[in-house]
Amino acid sequence: QGAHAFFGAHQAGITTEVQEHLHFAAFDMMPRSDRRDLIELLEDWSYAASRLTQGLEVSASGAVGGGPDAPPDDTGEALGLHAANLTITFGFGPSLFLNEDGDRYGIADRRPAKLERLPAFLGDDLDPAQSDGDLCIQVCADDPQVAVHTIRNLSRIAFGRAKLRWSQLGFGKTSRTSAQQQTPRNLFGFKDGTANILADDQDALASHVWAGDGDPGWMAGGSYLVARKIAMLIETWDRVRLGEQERIFGRDKVEGAPLSGGTEMTPPKLSGLDPHSHVRLAHPDANGGARILRRGFNYVGGNNALGRLDAGLFFLSYQRDPAQFITLQKRMSTDLLIEYIRHVGSGVWAVPPGATSGSYVGAALFA
Ligand code: HEM
Repeated sequence: QGAHAFFGAHQAGITTEVQEHLHFAAFDMMPRSDRRDLIELLEDWSYAASRLTQGLEVSASGAVGGGPDAPPDDTGEALGLHAANLTITFGFGPSLFLNEDGDRYGIADRRPAKLERLPAFLGDDLDPAQSDGDLCIQVCADDPQVAVHTIRNLSRIAFGRAKLRWSQLGFGKTSRTSAQQQTPRNLFGFKDGTANILADDQDALASHVWAGDGDPGWMAGGSYLVARKIAMLIETWDRVRLGEQERIFGRDKVEGAPLSGGTEMTPPKLSGLDPHSHVRLAHPDANGGARILRRGFNYVGGNNALGRLDAGLFFLSYQRDPAQFITLQKRMSTDLLIEYIRHVGSGVWAVPPGATSGSYVGAALFA
């Protein structure tokens, strides 16, 4: 299985072909941590990430090389599992720049103006325990054990400096980021990710995904990540007639073709779709040209006392400005889909450019 380089102009895990599994984690810095703690944490995380993405143990002494008298550096459950296309993508939340102490890390004047908590949207039912965080790490891999091993070991490295605030497992990608990938399906059974920004579309990436204009220099080549945990009311949906399900999305179920005609990749004619269908409202033509790169995953967290699945979409999108997501999400206030979904978690992070070899992710923020 393949290995992706950790170092590069952009962080891996944005345009990288979407992998099968996700472990996403948000962290808060410890109350008395200082600028040095933050820099050292990012250095240590970057070093570990540069090894883990190559299928190596977290440090040179690894799972057993430290001898029998010390707890091993690496927890060991990924021994023999290879890199599994692992990507590790780091982000900085608005609260890292401005916290209860004011400017604990000396970076407040470097906060990008675009990096603010998302506004409240109609129908939000957000749980603070599944929202926000000073830092985030998006880990994607084709082996779930490799993904979980990564978050576990990065949390362990953070000990005393930052602590896990919340985390989310995901499976069965709900988007594609390259033309070679087949379009996967979400838990409502529809193809998801048909009209996405793809890795080889350099123009679209430059205009819609990579940060630049209006950003501080340290963000050049970075992006902004929005995460939304969206519960899907599966049992209610499963009682909806097929024709109605298709009208709600504006696409047919088997092929994923727009209801205005053609096949999956035929551009939809918006006038041929229900005015409140998801595709009509989310389409760039309905949003002043705003586009986003979607990279979400399905999740199931067991079931509730009524026997209903706790399931949904862990929506992840990359854009050069969170305003792109905000525009779309506002437009969707009349989406036919909203009867069947509920937004329960939310966060936004500035994702700095990739680290250069020998340096660490976000180094330019502290230069
Ligand atoms: C398109 C599902 C939430 C933005 C689609 C499509 C499906 C889908 C099946 C059509 C296929 C495709 O082009 O990918 C869902 C489900 C959601 C959800 C099940 C919630 C559980 C969102 C949210 C946003 C969003 C929160 C952004 C705020 C888009 C965009 C498109 C799209 C931009 C492409 C529209 C186009 O250009 O044709 N979604 N979606 N979706 N969705 Fe969603």
